[in-house]
Amino acid sequence: MTITTLDTPLAKPLLDWYDRHHRDLPWRVSPGMAARGVKADPYRVWLSEVMLQQTTVQAVKPYFERFLQRWPEVTDLAAAENDAVMAAWAGLGYYARARNLKKCAEAVAKEHGGIFPDTEEGLKSLPGIGDYTAAAVAAIAFNRQAAVMDGNVERVISRLYAIDTPLPAAKPAMKEKVALLTPADRPGDFAQAMMDLGATICTPKRPACSLCPFRGACAALKLSDPELFPVKAAKKEKPVRYGAAFIAVTGDGEILLRRRIDSGLLGGMTEVPTTAWTARIDGETSAAAAPFEAAWQAAGTVIHVFTHFELRLSIWRAAIAAKVAMDDGTNDGWWEPVTNLEAQALPTIMKKAIAAAIPLAFKTSKG
Ligand code: ADE
Repeated sequence: MTITTLDTPLAKPLLDWYDRHHRDLPWRVSPGMAARGVKADPYRVWLSEVMLQQTTVQAVKPYFERFLQRWPEVTDLAAAENDAVMAAWAGLGYYARARNLKKCAEAVAKEHGGIFPDTEEGLKSLPGIGDYTAAAVAAIAFNRQAAVMDGNVERVISRLYAIDTPLPAAKPAMKEKVALLTPADRPGDFAQAMMDLGATICTPKRPACSLCPFRGACAALKLSDPELFPVKAAKKEKPVRYGAAFIAVTGDGEILLRRRIDSGLLGGMTEVPTTAWTARIDGETSAAAAPFEAAWQAAGTVIHVFTHFELRLSIWRAAIAAKVAMDDGTNDGWWEPVTNLEAQALPTIMKKAIAAAIPLAFKTSKG
């Protein structure tokens, strides 16, 4: 986005606030460090921004640390095994992002000599990098005057200007406002300051307006109640889909797992056998749909909310005497010790399904 205004009077109070109140985050170069010449590492900035599109700062921290420990440079991630990346991502959700993360690392390693492009356009040419990530990395890692807008920034902007067009229709107008506010000096800190402001002061409920650097300028505060913004279009009800999942455990404590096909929802991730549910089609829910005959016992229902639908899985478990060969040619199932489940690329829904049948399968509640 081209930025036309050089005069951004609200940037100064915000940056002053950020200098004092920024959050210390593992991927961030604090203003003090930046003043001493420390530069943000584009790999860390990119990795954190991709992860932060999935979940909260708190939830991302351990994933970020584990990724960096294992793959300290983008070239290490490029050379990693796909399955190892999927397993490390498991629990963050939206697994197409993890596949694109790997593809992007490969493109940077192979086509750019291991160096990230330093413009929004250059970044956008990489796999999996859209408008948001390109702007965030360009601003934070390369100090480009790019307009960065995530959900937190949308809330701040909608209140500052009392924008009453509902989201998502209001997004283009909001982005223009962000572009006009973004300063040529310290655009990366400005973007992060807007995010921190949205996360800590301009919160969805009970915003701390008396502490806000924009309190003198905020139209929503002057008008009425900032909590009324942003205005959101009424949500459509999510469809509910049904299916069944089968947890078979041998006397030796091994569980039957298999790998989902690469395309589609949870593509390439590990699962227990389930019936053929999709976002549009219900799967069977009874034990008659089990992968083999056994004394299947009902172990409750697990509900998981995906972006476009809610899935209700009937859980069936069976203690079996001996492993059944998984050689039906339709999938590559295997038997895995239950003690090794933490290392598998199991998405959250599958962890929930297994935990319903084997309560102590996962020691932590992560993912
Ligand atoms: N949310 C997304 N990106 C962020 C960042 N760089 N700092 C704080 N919160 C964020």
